[in-house]
Amino acid sequence: MAWTVDLSGKVALVTGGATGIGYAIGSAFLEAGAAVVATARSDASLAACNPETEYGTMQLLKLDVTNDISIDAALEQIGRLDILVNNAGMVKRALEFQSENFADVINTNLMGVQRMAQHCLPKLALTRGCIINVASMWSYFGSRTAPGYTASKTGLVGLTRSLAHAWAEHGIRVNAIAPGWIATKMTQALREDQEQYEGIRSRIPMGEWGRPEDVAGTAVFLCSPAASYVTGALIPVDGGYSAA
Ligand code: NAI
Repeated sequence: MAWTVDLSGKVALVTGGATGIGYAIGSAFLEAGAAVVATARSDASLAACNPETEYGTMQLLKLDVTNDISIDAALEQIGRLDILVNNAGMVKRALEFQSENFADVINTNLMGVQRMAQHCLPKLALTRGCIINVASMWSYFGSRTAPGYTASKTGLVGLTRSLAHAWAEHGIRVNAIAPGWIATKMTQALREDQEQYEGIRSRIPMGEWGRPEDVAGTAVFLCSPAASYVTGALIPVDGGYSAA
């Protein structure tokens, strides 16, 4: 087996792929030769995204993971599908102690993944494709500030394992990545507060915040032949944060 990852001929769809970790994963897939469909929830996000990378151009589509009609409309625009990356996510922090906000976060981060997986099943079964779910370090431990987010990311591990088990019969592998502290829009406010930024940094064994690109390599691995016997796994990509 040649260990250079070659994803040419494969089509990958990355939800929330216009920004942050999703954009970095999409760019890495392009570099590995795949065609990439990056989806964004709003016209504004689509307009703000530059689909042209050093390695090729992403196709941009509008898709809201909380809306079945929106998912169907996007999937109608693509043919084959080999790789689904469920990356879209949101956090409302302390607001999540209120039920409606808790439900909102679960609806996006957990049910959004279930919806996407269900809608994409026929296409993925045809290609014996794979699913990568973007979980979190909060899949391992509790957060005193974001109960809905933490519940959603913990639930995502159970969903990942269940789909891995159920859909192995279709040849579909389902895995999850648990990023640690990554410098994206989602963590911008924390990083702008020097005390919080430094407090977090000092607890990361590798001594620095992660970049979106740091997460992308694991995504490429998980959909490569090198991971052909890996399913139902949760892989931390966190500079050692969850190990400390
Ligand atoms: P981000 O805010 O740049 O990306 C989140 C994306 O999800 C955005 O593009 C947003 O528009 C999209 N999104 C939100 N709701 C949506 C919906 N209903 N339908 C479609 N798209 C929707 O932040 P980041 O950090 O790149 O987040 C990507 C994933 O990584 C998320 O699932 C997040 O929970 C996860 N993560 C991030 C960490 C970090 O430190 N940045 C740590 C652990 C996990």
